Amino acid sequence: MFNFSLMGAGRIGKMHASIIDAHPDCNLKYIYDINAEFVNQLANKYEASIASSPEQALTSEEIDAILIASATPTHTEFITKGSMAGKAIFCEKPIDLDINKVDECRDAIKGTSVPIQIGFNRRFDSSHSKLQQANINNEIGKLEMLIITSRDPEPPGLDYLKAAGGFFRDTTIHDFDLARFILGDDPIIQVSAFGSQLISEDVKKVNDHDTAMFILKSKSGVLIHINNSRRAVYGYDQRVEIFGSKGMMISNNQTPTSVQKFSEKNTESKDPIHYFFIERYEQAYRDQFNDFVETIKNHSNPSVSFEDGRNALILANAAYESYNSGKVIDISYD
Ligand SMILES: NC(=O)c1ccc[n+]([C@@H]2O[C@H](COP(=O)([O-])OP(=O)(O)OC[C@H]3O[C@@H](n4cnc5c(N)ncnc54)[C@H](O)[C@@H]3O)[C@@H](O)[C@H]2O)c1
Repeated sequence: MFNFSLMGAGRIGKMHASIIDAHPDCNLKYIYDINAEFVNQLANKYEASIASSPEQALTSEEIDAILIASATPTHTEFITKGSMAGKAIFCEKPIDLDINKVDECRDAIKGTSVPIQIGFNRRFDSSHSKLQQANINNEIGKLEMLIITSRDPEPPGLDYLKAAGGFFRDTTIHDFDLARFILGDDPIIQVSAFGSQLISEDVKKVNDHDTAMFILKSKSGVLIHINNSRRAVYGYDQRVEIFGSKGMMISNNQTPTSVQKFSEKNTESKDPIHYFFIERYEQAYRDQFNDFVETIKNHSNPSVSFEDGRNALILANAAYESYNSGKVIDISYD
């Protein structure tokens, strides 16, 4: 049995608490959050203890592993303290918004040997990962284009936008990682980005983007297109397409049921697609956690590493550089 500390009892922390609690080999031992109401609620629900300090949750001898789902600025400190105490770490994306903080953390944890996995859940979606496998197995021949559409149902509020660190680092970072995952050992070497403010007044207030498009290029010449929106009236739009010399494959949107309705007004009308990430990637979040537990059990390398988290941030930073300069940016992962 692995005893877990959960850092953060907010939106995604609540989901992770239920996943840890449901796992037969895991026990939710401690929860830590600066919000007393959130932490009380979760501790009561799962009969966990409330840690009196971050140190207790991160370093207690009763703890084997830590799941970090707290606000992004806390991640590097919690990764560093937890891994130096010998605990296996699962940390939500992004590691941080600032590459200097990521690199300081990377230096600090160099001597530790615990697994550190980053929460890029889309890699664990069975349809997206089927495309990745198909590419590795040459099922569509030589990959030539990769197209990722990722649109949220509605923009977040002003408070979230103020803290999120910008659309590219908060949201597109998932797509940069998914592109890296599907491309396998073919690294992305160039990035260009466009962003617009078309939807949300709050987005304008924080001078962020709510609409964005990116073109990237891999070392072997694959062209990658990513498009993002903060508002899709029909739900959480998540599609991936790979196109190659022997065909094309699509990982399509999913609906809660597979029922189709035919009427005078519609042909093949279906349920609305899933509303947002918790519903759309419900199974992927579980599979991601199961994978992390197997990593701890087998003392193996995590399937989504600290370096993966760092590389996705490097691509997001390059996208900002491209947006600001109007130029195509060459990527260095050093
Ligand atoms: N993988 C995904 O699909 C996904 C989805 C949503 C969020 N996230 C990531 O998860 C993290 C949390 O996001 P969220 O949407 O749950 O945010 P949230 O604001 O709902 O929750 C964050 C929680 O962190 C707590 N917190 C803040 N400072 C703290 C501190 N010093 N110590 C302990 N707790 C502290 C807050 O009180 C809050 O309860 C972010 O890094 C975000 O990028 C990932």
